Amino acid sequence: MAKIISVANQKGGVGKTTTAINIAAGLAKSGRTALVIDVDPQCNATSGLGVEPAQRHPLLAGKPLSETVAETSQPNLFVLPGSQSLADADALSASNRQRASTLRQQLTGELSRFDYVFLDCPPSLGQLTRAALGASAELYIPIQCEYFAMEGLSQIIELARQTKARDNHRLEIGGIVLTMYDPALDLANEVVGEVRQYFDETVFESLIPRDVHISEAPSHGRSVLDYAPRARGARAYTELVMEVIDRE
Ligand SMILES: Nc1ncnc2c1ncn2[C@@H]1O[C@H](COP(=O)(O)OP(=O)(O)O)[C@@H](O)[C@H]1O
Ligand SMILES: [Mg+2]
Repeated sequence: MAKIISVANQKGGVGKTTTAINIAAGLAKSGRTALVIDVDPQCNATSGLGVEPAQRHPLLAGKPLSETVAETSQPNLFVLPGSQSLADADALSASNRQRASTLRQQLTGELSRFDYVFLDCPPSLGQLTRAALGASAELYIPIQCEYFAMEGLSQIIELARQTKARDNHRLEIGGIVLTMYDPALDLANEVVGEVRQYFDETVFESLIPRDVHISEAPSHGRSVLDYAPRARGARAYTELVMEVIDRE
């Protein structure tokens, strides 16, 4: 059965999509089958994996999901394309509890052939993110190693706690991913220290550096592991994937 992981943080630009794509890519390289589901109407995970957004969101189209799962340039790595339609975003987020259970059924029933499913969430704690959390076994929270990094963390952790208590008893915080780390900045080191002190082993050991190859890869429709496997950013995501596998 697929392990379903939401990648969420209400802040935009913290590395959610990048982390979802590249962890999935690393797992795919290790021989596991991985699917990224794009639930953000911005569809960055879809285009970042070289696929066109769908007219209708596959989770709403009423067709078997297996028909809309798209291949990527990398073996074992697939994407369920998002839709830019705001009506679809509304429909997907309507009536949270029911949507979460429908989503859970769709994911566990139709997508059981995948080892891992990542839900790339929009930058909000709105209904789409809530539905994703309601359907997930784990939550990964990327945070940027910059000032205000911790701001907002308590809200998303509280949302996860509520979701676990009300709708989805198995939800766990799978890990905090520190992204866009620049070792030359004292501030970045302070942030890393502070987050580690506060959240302890919930924080993954691997630090994802700021690396231009990471930001270039999506414009080529590829993960950084595929686009620039020797780049620092690719090596860091590979190490992170080792930790994910260790936590299996
Ligand atoms: N480690 C990194 N180094 C350099 N650029 C990065 C890194 N991680 C993400 N980016 C870039 O920063 C921007 C925001 O990242 P993204 O993953 O889209 O964040 P989110 O999904 O949280 O909005 C994107 O342009 C992405 O390519
Ligand atoms: Mg994103």
